[in-house]
Amino acid sequence: MSGHASPATLALSRTTETIMTQSTLSASEAIKTSYEQYVVPSYARSLVLTRGQGCRVWDAEGREYLDLGGGIAVNCLGHSHPAITRALLEQSQRMVHCSNLFYNELQGSLARELVDRTGPGKVFFCNSGAEANEGLIKLARKAGHAQGRFEIITAFNSFHGRTMAGISATGQDKVKQGFDPLLPGFIHVPFNDIEAVKSAMTERTAAVMIEGIQGEGGITPATPEYLLQLRALTKEAGVLLLMDAVQCGFFRTGCFQSYQRILENKPEAAGFKPDAISMAKSLGGGFPIGAFWIGTEWADVFQPGSHGTTYGGTPLACAVSLAILEVIRSEGLEDNIRRQGDYLKTELEKMLGQHGLESVRGMGLMLGMQVFGDAMAAAAKLRENGLILVPATGNILRFLPPYNVSREELDQALEIIRKTL
Ligand SMILES: Cc1ncc(COP(=O)(O)O)c(C=O)c1O
Repeated sequence: MSGHASPATLALSRTTETIMTQSTLSASEAIKTSYEQYVVPSYARSLVLTRGQGCRVWDAEGREYLDLGGGIAVNCLGHSHPAITRALLEQSQRMVHCSNLFYNELQGSLARELVDRTGPGKVFFCNSGAEANEGLIKLARKAGHAQGRFEIITAFNSFHGRTMAGISATGQDKVKQGFDPLLPGFIHVPFNDIEAVKSAMTERTAAVMIEGIQGEGGITPATPEYLLQLRALTKEAGVLLLMDAVQCGFFRTGCFQSYQRILENKPEAAGFKPDAISMAKSLGGGFPIGAFWIGTEWADVFQPGSHGTTYGGTPLACAVSLAILEVIRSEGLEDNIRRQGDYLKTELEKMLGQHGLESVRGMGLMLGMQVFGDAMAAAAKLRENGLILVPATGNILRFLPPYNVSREELDQALEIIRKTL
């Protein structure tokens, strides 16, 4: 054991070593046994990972994998990026946490960066995607309260997180089972169907909430027409348009927000702006942070006492996020996202009809390939051959790689797919 091992590493090793010495288990099996004994079994897990570098991760037996799942759209600069390490080290020596009863320069700076890239408004910081969506839902309720508006229209196949409001908003039954009664006031309609939204709207409607690109639901982008019609419809009715950009936002498509990419080349794009947008995942590159932006019209709905969270926007979380923004800017990663995303999509499209590929969808570095048969089984086979992708609803395997992924890494992934499927 190295003299530099962290307390966490030492603690984990003690558990693992105890289990290993009491049996003939390998390192992986011993770690899995500790999960079986001590960790709530709420996930179907596969590999035992011990370290990562860029797009590569290693398991407990030292096997290397190409990780194009990016921790489910989180590790936007890859694993162990020096800029994130530096921000964590330097900021943790200055100040890790200060409560939101005080000001801190970094929260203000990060809010400004997000506003500059989105539009006039203000930002609230929290810790996860589900919590950011809770904030959007509370915003809609509070904004509509005086008029008795509380219903929120969301889409089938959407995913908005695992809190009670999150699963109530989510348009997939599998996340709701066993948790009723759910939060009332959510109406689900087919995605990309403006007539369905029109029919669902009443004098009780407070908001419509959608993902720019449905992620967990199987990489389904909103169409430009749908976005524009939705904005016109909600504006006319005095209803908020909320966008969940937890997975598809923060540059994943090659634009800061997915709607900016979906609407590019559309003359009406300049007039499109949601009323509020939730963010998380890539915003922290692996360090937990969530946020929501609110456009000017509704930016002061929350006043002292109406919303809060202890850890929202700590100096440490904001330092990491600011460091990520600087890397994206200085290394021109928006351009890399587009180039590599276009390349990967084109190469996958060439494989359609062969290698068990039924369709390819998405944009930037948020791509999905639909396989004939079971996506979970396909993901397991790919893992055996050294490639990590993330399954989604509808037999989809998702590519959510870091923004600095290289052509060589994509070529290696394509080779593994050709060989495996
Ligand atoms: C679109 C979307 N919204 C919300 C969430 C929930 O985010 P978190 O897991 O950080 O709570 C996710 C997570 O996958 C997501 O993809």
